[in-house]
Amino acid sequence: MVKYLVVFIVGPAGSGKSTFTSSFKDWLLSQSTPASTINLDPAVEYLDYDPDIDIREYVFVRDVIEKYNLGPNGAIIASVDLAVEHLDKVQAAMEDLPEGYVLVDTPGQMEIFAYRQSGTYIVSELCSSSSLCAAVFMVDASIATQPYNFLSQLFLSASMYYRLRLPLTVAVNKIDVLEDMEKNRLLNWLSDVESMENELEFASNVDRVFTKRVLRLLSDFMEVVPFVPVSAKTKENFEQVYFYLQQIYRGGEDFE
Ligand code: GTP
Repeated sequence: MVKYLVVFIVGPAGSGKSTFTSSFKDWLLSQSTPASTINLDPAVEYLDYDPDIDIREYVFVRDVIEKYNLGPNGAIIASVDLAVEHLDKVQAAMEDLPEGYVLVDTPGQMEIFAYRQSGTYIVSELCSSSSLCAAVFMVDASIATQPYNFLSQLFLSASMYYRLRLPLTVAVNKIDVLEDMEKNRLLNWLSDVESMENELEFASNVDRVFTKRVLRLLSDFMEVVPFVPVSAKTKENFEQVYFYLQQIYRGGEDFE
C-alpha cells in the first residue's frame, strides 16, 4: 500500500519554493487532503511555516561555518553532504506522518542540491517502498517575461527532469505580479511554445535555424511535462497542480 506521495519542490533561488510548500500544504488541508512538510534546506534562516520535519535540527549551515571554518558557499555544500548522514532520522520521523502528501522544500541553491551526488541520493532514499515520488519545478514568472529568459528556464526544468528522473510538473509561479498583457503572452507561450518564434527572431541574435530546433525540442518536452501557471501567494491554479500530482498518487481519485 502506497502511504505517501513525496513531492520535492525544486527550483532556482527565490523562485518561491518555501512559499509554495507552505501555501500548497494549507490548500491541500483545506481540501481535506492530508499533507505534511519537510524542510531539507540546512541554510535557510527564516521559514514562514513550521515544517513537520526540519533538517536544521541535525545540520545548520551556521554551525557548519563555525565548526569547519568554511565560507558560505562551501558551508552550504558541506551541509547538504552532511544531511545524508542524518537521513535515517528523517526517515524515522516520516513514519509518524499521516498518510497523504509530503511536501519537501529543497535547498535554495538548486545546483547544490540537484547536481551533487548527495542531492540525488537524498531523493532516492526518501522514495521508499511505501512512497511514490514526484517533483514540482518552480519557475519565477516575473523573470520569464522575455522569450529568451522563458526558454532558459524551460531548459533548466528539462535538465532537472533528467537529473531527478521523477514525474515532473512545472509551476510557473508569481503570476499575480504580471500585468494582464504579460500574463496573456506567457499563457500563449505555455499553450504553444512555437508561438515565440517571431519574437525570438527579433529579441536575440541566436541563429534562426537553431532557434527553430530548440523550440521544437521544448515543444516536445512540454507534451510530456505539464506546465501550470500559479501564484504561491494567492493559490491560483493550485487545483491544476493537484490534478497532475493526484494522477500519480491515486490515478486521479480524490482522498475519501
Ligand atoms: P530560497 O529557498 O531562498 O531560494 O527561496 P525560495 O525559492 O524558497 O523562495 P521563497 O518562497 O522564499 O520566495 C522568494 C520571494 O518571492 C519571497 O519574497 C516571497 O514572498 C516571494 N514569492 C513567492 N511566491 C510568490 C508569488 O506567488 N507571488 C508573489 N508576488 N511573490 C511570491
